Amino acid sequence: MQRTVLLLFCLILSFSAFSQGNNYAQNYKKYEGLALTPPMGWNSWNKFACNVDENLIKQVADAMVSSGMKEAGFIYINIDDCWHGDRDSLGFIHADPKRFPSGMKALADYIHGKGLKFGIYSDAGSQTCGGRPGSRGYEFQDAQMYASWGVDYLKYDWCNTEGLKAEGAYKTITAALRKAGRPIVLSICEWGTDKPWEWGPSVGHLWRTTGDIYNCFDCIEDHGTWKSWGVMQILDKQDGLRQYAGPGHWNDPDMLEVGNGMPVNEDRAHFSMWSMIAAPLIAGNDIRKMSKETTAVLTNKEVIAVNQDKLGVQGFKFSANNGLETWLKPLDSGNWAVVFLNRNKEPQVVNFDWRKTPIKDEVSKAELNAAQSTYKIRNLWTKKNMGNTKKAFKTTVAAHDVIMLVLSK
Ligand code: GLA
Repeated sequence: MQRTVLLLFCLILSFSAFSQGNNYAQNYKKYEGLALTPPMGWNSWNKFACNVDENLIKQVADAMVSSGMKEAGFIYINIDDCWHGDRDSLGFIHADPKRFPSGMKALADYIHGKGLKFGIYSDAGSQTCGGRPGSRGYEFQDAQMYASWGVDYLKYDWCNTEGLKAEGAYKTITAALRKAGRPIVLSICEWGTDKPWEWGPSVGHLWRTTGDIYNCFDCIEDHGTWKSWGVMQILDKQDGLRQYAGPGHWNDPDMLEVGNGMPVNEDRAHFSMWSMIAAPLIAGNDIRKMSKETTAVLTNKEVIAVNQDKLGVQGFKFSANNGLETWLKPLDSGNWAVVFLNRNKEPQVVNFDWRKTPIKDEVSKAELNAAQSTYKIRNLWTKKNMGNTKKAFKTTVAAHDVIMLVLSK
């Protein structure tokens, strides 16, 4: 009898230890159900770098609504580096009182009042890339502070992380965010060094796959100790990663440079390709004063619908020939998005015979077989219907530009 009681007692003890272990493991898992389609919003870095203050951010929130971007789906207003002031004597972080005199809570309230969401930036190391206080050693306090301000999105960078291992460091901030109790999207900004696509899906909602984008279509900017990359260079670095992306967990090829000075054809190609590869669409321009052309690119709802398609499959390069690439993205309901991308400085002729080109996507298993079914063709930039797939598709693609189509049954 005594032995049975002892045995039962041991069983209960080990069961509770086991379930506690499970609970602790749960703590390192992100909030599920966020970012089921790639996040859309705006971030201060590409245009304003460290020149951020509350007036700018409020004006950007106003412009998000008045420009039609909110209506097109852009929701997050994200402040990047350099918003920080000092930590107080207890270690809590505060916003720079000169730049944000009303405080972050008031700013978050303003943004929420417009039906938008609020994002902020920190770093896993001792200091941010811009030399402001990092979160290392203060993760739980920082997460608590962000939650109390009403933060909805955290971009978490990787500068000054001596001795840290990325997966562990990002799991610490995930645990801190869970403990703080507010669902916050976690944007892992580790530049792809430690293959975040392999461990990121349970830890965060998106992860940078590369170093920083540079505002050019096809160039590399050498800063000495580091490089930043043009739109085409970043695109090429996405090779082999598409199987890691899906609803709630996205490859992040960095924020948009649309409206920051490239000609409109290049902006159009950039926005189309980011949509095809199911990238987060985080605008990085001054949306308070955009040209009509820039607004038209950023608010093209049919292109955005390709990006936001609920199937959440990242598109792929089907073929490449003399700088002319054909990209495909399977969509919900058996539809497909197609882009012909001309990387050359001269126009190129496309001649694509749908019926002679059966396509099977090995990742999603979707098939496009125009010999079996006929698809209607819609051009997303001219916004015109272009017949169907019974006829071969022949057209000219301008230099550094795209033709973007949706094929539907
Ligand atoms: C890193 C990031 C950028 C930006 C800056 C801020 O370079 O990759 O996106 O956040 O830091 O200092």
